[in-house]
Amino acid sequence: MRKRFFLTLTLLLAILTPTVFLSACQKPKPQPVKTVQIPDGEVNPEVWGKAYPAEYELWKKTEQPEPAGKSKYKRGFDADRISYDKLSEFPYMALLFNGWGFGIEYNEPKGHARMLRDQLEVDPSRVKAGGVCLSCKTPYAPKLEKEMAIDYYKKPYDEVLSRIPEQFRTLGVACVDCHDNKDMSLKISRGFTLLAALKDMGVDSSKLSRQEMRSVICAQCHVTYSIPKDAEMHSTGLYFPWQGSKWGNITIENIIKKLRSDPAYGEFKQTVTGFKMAFIRHPEFELFSNNSVHWKAGAACADCHMPYTIVGTSKVSDHRVMSPVKNDFKACQQCHTESIEWLKDQVTTIQDRTVSLMLRSGYATASVAKLFEIAHKAQSEGKNIDKGLYDKAKDFYEEAFYRVVYVGAENSVGFHNPTEAARNLGDATAFAGKAEGLLRQALAKAGVDVPIMVNLELNKYLDDRGKKKLKFSSEVEFKDPYGVQDKLLTVKQAK
Ligand code: HEC
Ligand code: HEC
Ligand code: HEC
Ligand code: HEC
Repeated sequence: MRKRFFLTLTLLLAILTPTVFLSACQKPKPQPVKTVQIPDGEVNPEVWGKAYPAEYELWKKTEQPEPAGKSKYKRGFDADRISYDKLSEFPYMALLFNGWGFGIEYNEPKGHARMLRDQLEVDPSRVKAGGVCLSCKTPYAPKLEKEMAIDYYKKPYDEVLSRIPEQFRTLGVACVDCHDNKDMSLKISRGFTLLAALKDMGVDSSKLSRQEMRSVICAQCHVTYSIPKDAEMHSTGLYFPWQGSKWGNITIENIIKKLRSDPAYGEFKQTVTGFKMAFIRHPEFELFSNNSVHWKAGAACADCHMPYTIVGTSKVSDHRVMSPVKNDFKACQQCHTESIEWLKDQVTTIQDRTVSLMLRSGYATASVAKLFEIAHKAQSEGKNIDKGLYDKAKDFYEEAFYRVVYVGAENSVGFHNPTEAARNLGDATAFAGKAEGLLRQALAKAGVDVPIMVNLELNKYLDDRGKKKLKFSSEVEFKDPYGVQDKLLTVKQAK
C-alpha cells in the first residue's frame, strides 16, 4: 500500500515535472549557495542564512500570522491575530489548573519565531519556575545550563534571561538548535534533557537513522517534561518521564507511574482539591511515536510539518514549520493520492471525536474535583469521611487527571495517534466515573447531601485571571460536536 503511494506519486511527478525530476522520498542534500564558514556555536541565523538563504527566508516566515479559518481546532496566531485562549476553548481546564500559571493564561501555540516573545508577554506566573522555563525557548539554553548548573533551574527567570546577549534575547528556535554547522546534518543540541531521556530507554542516540532524527530533533521540545521541586518549591532540574518505557512505546501508564512516584514531582497545588499535582506538557513526540499508524509507516514530524517545497530551482524543506492543515495538506500529498477533501474530512473527524472525548472526560474529572471540595468542607465541619473510600477515590481521580491533561496538552487534537488518544480519554472517563461513585458513597455515608447537579462554578476560575484580568470568551469555546456531553450533564458546566 505504502509502495503504491510512492510509486503513483513518483510517476505523477515524473510526468508533471519533466525538467526537475523529484521524488518524494529523495531528500535534498544541503548545498550552500555561497561558501560561508559557519563558526562553531554560531547562534545568529543571519550568518547561517548567508550560506542557505532559501531555508533562512522560510524560517523567518514563522514570525508571520498564518491563514485564518483553515484549521478548526488549532487557531494559534492566524491572520485574525487573536491569541486563542485554551481555557476558554476548554473551560474544564480552568477549574483543573486553578492554583498556578496554566490556570491563569494558557494559549494555543504560535509560530517558532514568537516563542520567547510570547513567554515575555504571558502572565508572569507562567515563568515562576525560574530560568528552567527557557529550556525550550532559546538556543542559549544548553550553554546557560552548562555554565550555571543548578542555578540555571532555580534562579528567577529574568535573571537567567539577562545573561543572553541583548540582541538575541527574543530569538526563538535557531538553526543551531537543529543543525550541525559543519555539514548541516541534524544534531541534538539539548543533550541535558533529551539525550538523558533516550539513555533511560536504552536508546543509543548515535545509531538513530536520518528519518528518526527528523522526528527526534523536534522531541527536544515537543515532549512532556517535569520540573522537580525542593521543599521550598524551588526548581531543581528538568527531566522527561520516560523511564520504564521503550522506543516507539512511551506509554501514559509509565509516565503517570513516574510522576506519582515522588512528591518532589508535584509542581502545583490544585486550588479546588488542595492536592499537590504534577503536570504534563505538549507530549507530541510521545503520542505520535507510540505505535501510531504514521510512525509505523516510517513518517517523521518533518514529513508533515516541513514538507518539501520548490524555491527557484531547488527543492528544500519548508522551514516555515506549521500545521499541514493551514498549508493546504501539501505535506500529506507527498505520500497520499487522496483528494484534499478526503484528507481534510479525515483530520476533522478524528479531531471532532477527540474533542468529544476530551469534554466528556474533562468535565467528569472536574466534577470529581468539586466533590473533593465538598468532602473537604464536610471534614472541616467535623463530618467523618470514610478513609478507604476517600483514598481510592483520590487514587482514581489522579489517574483521570493526568490522562485528561496528557491529551489536552498534546497539540494535534488526537490526529498524531487517534486510537491511543481515544484509549487514554476513555480510561480517564472511567477513572473519573469510579472516583465520583466512591466519593458520593463516602459523602452519603457521612450524611452529606450532594445534588445530582454539582455546580462547577466555572466563572470563578474563568474570569479575572491574573494581572491581565483575562475573561472567559464564549465565542471560542469548543462544544461537543456530537452533543453527548450535553446529554450526560450531571454537572452545571456552561455559564
Ligand atoms: C527549541 C524548542 C523547539 C524545537 C526544537 C521545535 N519546536 Fe516546535 N515549537 C516550540 C515552541 C515553544 C512552540 C510554541 C511557540 C509559541 O507559542 O510561542 C512551537 C510551536 C510549533 C508549532 C505550531 C506552529 C504554529 O504556527 O502554530 C508546530 C507545528 C511545531 N512547533 C512543530 C515542530 C516540529 C515539526 C519540529 C521539528 C522539526 C519542532 N517544532 C521543533 C519549540 C520547539
Ligand atoms: C502524518 C502527519 C503528521 C506527523 C507525522 C506529525 N504531525 Fe503534527 N500535526 C499533524 C496534523 C494534521 C495536525 C493538526 C493541525 C491542525 O489541526 O491544524 C498536527 C498538529 C501539530 C501541532 C500543533 C500545530 C498548531 O498549529 O498548533 C504541533 C506542535 C505538532 N503537530 C507537532 C508535531 C511533532 C513534534 C511531530 C513529531 C513528533 C508531529 N507533529 C508529527 C500532522 C502530523
Ligand atoms: C526545528 C529544527 C530546524 C531548524 C530550527 C532549522 N532547520 Fe534546517 N532542517 C531541519 C530538518 C528536519 C531538515 C531536513 C533534514 C533531513 O532530511 O536530513 C532540515 C534541512 C535543512 C537543510 C538541507 C536542505 C533542505 O532544505 O532540506 C538546510 C540547508 C537547512 N536545513 C538550513 C537551515 C537554516 C539556514 C536554518 C536557520 C535559519 C535552519 N535550517 C533551521 C530542521 C531545522
Ligand atoms: C511519509 C508519508 C505520509 C505522509 C506525509 C502522510 N501520510 Fe497518512 N499515511 C501514510 C501511510 C503509509 C499510511 C498507512 C496507509 C496504509 O497502509 O493503508 C497512512 C495512513 C493515513 C490515514 C489512515 C489512518 C488509519 O488509522 O488507518 C489517514 C487518515 C492519513 N494517513 C491522513 C494523512 C494526513 C491528513 C496527512 C497530512 C497531514 C498524512 N496522512 C501524511 C503515509 C503518509
